[in-house]
Amino acid sequence: MPQPLDLPQGFRWGVSTAAYQIEGAVDEDGRGPSIWDTFAARPGAVRDGHTGAVACDHYHRYPEDVALMQGLGLDGYRFSIAWPRIQPTGAGPANPAGLAFYDRLVDALLTAGITPLPTLFHWDLPQALEDADGWLNRDTAYRFAEYTALVADRLGDRVPAWITLNEPFVHMVYGYAMGIHAPGRALMLDALPAAHHQLLGHGLAAAVLRERGLDVMIANNLTPVRPASSSEADQAAATAYDALHNRLFTDPILLGHYPDLSAFGVGPDLGGSVRDGDLKLIAATPLDGLGVNYYNPTRIAAPTDPGLPFTEAPIEGVPRTAFDWPVVPDGLRELLTGLRDRYGAALPPVTITENGCSVADEPAADGTVSDPDRIAYLAGHLDALAAAVAEGVDVRGYFTWSLLDNFEWAEGYHQRFGLVHVDFETQRRTPKASYAWYRDLITAHRALQER
Ligand code: FCB
Repeated sequence: MPQPLDLPQGFRWGVSTAAYQIEGAVDEDGRGPSIWDTFAARPGAVRDGHTGAVACDHYHRYPEDVALMQGLGLDGYRFSIAWPRIQPTGAGPANPAGLAFYDRLVDALLTAGITPLPTLFHWDLPQALEDADGWLNRDTAYRFAEYTALVADRLGDRVPAWITLNEPFVHMVYGYAMGIHAPGRALMLDALPAAHHQLLGHGLAAAVLRERGLDVMIANNLTPVRPASSSEADQAAATAYDALHNRLFTDPILLGHYPDLSAFGVGPDLGGSVRDGDLKLIAATPLDGLGVNYYNPTRIAAPTDPGLPFTEAPIEGVPRTAFDWPVVPDGLRELLTGLRDRYGAALPPVTITENGCSVADEPAADGTVSDPDRIAYLAGHLDALAAAVAEGVDVRGYFTWSLLDNFEWAEGYHQRFGLVHVDFETQRRTPKASYAWYRDLITAHRALQER
């Protein structure tokens, strides 16, 4: 039986997923194409040509998936809403069948005693908006606010808190700078307007949510940045990387200004995209909670190539996940205390909105799935979270990534992050050992708090 942790009263336990990674049903009920449909169809873009066309078939099997969540005893479920189901071309009135799906899902969650926590944008932009230049086009931010209003008007009576964007950093860098995610553009630093326009979209959507009395969050991918050595050059490189990865997406929202990106040769107008009043708007609606997606720290050294002011250096001597990501649980404590030190009173309560690991899990002959590495990963990170709480950081919840094995973007179905194994041939769900462990941890924790 897992030992309960010393966590604040009312601490919330959850799991996270995203629409394109689990739903499938890409051609059903009037859904329009998204940039991930287009990208995944491009030869060589996704490992082994995998696509999200079927994924976990969650669109049809959501009752079974909600039952799995209920079995865990969750407080909350973070999922994302597919914009192209609501507005097939990214503009105009809502598609009733698209809204109806999320309506059914929300009702099923509430019946199971689980609070829905939707993310409005988890990377599946309507293709029609990409045809007009996607997040490089300022207009996309205004379209995003219109879409937000359509969804909030329908679900806001039952859904108290909303996440605007998932990981705008990863979407900008992988999608627009390096081209390894949809929309597959490789613009390097010319991708920066996609950062500003996502943040502007956050600000506009946040106002729409707040007008309706709803709580506003964002889920940022954050990483503690460690210089490879104490040399001045490595430290300067680490400062530059930290500004790009962490500060660029958090400072404007919490502090109302962009960080210093001069090491990149970029001025405060982010490549000419910032207009008067934008920063005020981005910061205008205070966050009710900061969502933190944490996977690993980043080690940074002085640049070896001209072009960027840093190089990433490997983190040695630690276990690695199937994805080859280093496992450094204490990085979560370091990250959380670092956020508190950096933002002080401007830091809202934090919720861990993603944390988890990929393991090459397959059922044994008796049908069970044993995943001790995942249990060790989760236990280590929860200890680090409790340590940050003990050091005074206000952390309100933990949502693990992910409920189900799913479509892991450019890796296709090769990386398994689920508490529940999915056989993608048969769609059979098999709870792994980590599922039982997480359920028992939640139970133990609740018993402690109710004492
Ligand atoms: C995060 C994404 C999420 C998932 C995990 C493993 O960057 O937000 O969709 O792919 O990584």
